Amino acid sequence: MKKIEAIIRPEKVTAVKDALAEAGFPGLNVVSVTGRGAQKGVVRQGRGGQPVVIDMLAKAKMELVVADADADRVCNVIIDTARTGEIGDGKIFITNVEEVIRVRTGERGEQAV
Ligand SMILES: Nc1ncnc2c1ncn2[C@@H]1O[C@H](COP(=O)(O)OP(=O)(O)O)[C@@H](O)[C@H]1O
Ligand SMILES: [Mg+2]
Repeated sequence: MKKIEAIIRPEKVTAVKDALAEAGFPGLNVVSVTGRGAQKGVVRQGRGGQPVVIDMLAKAKMELVVADADADRVCNVIIDTARTGEIGDGKIFITNVEEVIRVRTGERGEQAV
């Protein structure tokens, strides 16, 4: 199995969640995070016109564990739905997952995801 952690714009969460459910992946966690990327935040115009650096930006982290064979499809759904083409669209991190256990039944592995 793979764990897919997608850092996306918070305003894209609903659309990505719906697109993933539509594609057959209803199970996920969403966490509100603050983060920064290569641009180290953004610079906004302050009240007096002075530049104000916003170091950490609000982002959403979506976390799903899926079968190996589904990982590419899930990433493509996220990318197609979350992309605006502007700086700050986010990143996806993929890691191997050793084991999954469904607590209710004790099932393990890909049939439990
Ligand atoms: N190397 C990283 N490790 C963990 N999280 C990251 C990393 N790079 C970016 N992020 C997260 O992704 C969000 C969006 O990054 P983004 O600005 O699109 O990336 P970049 O500027 O590196 O192209 C950041 O606010 C942060 O939450
Ligand atoms: Mg950036």
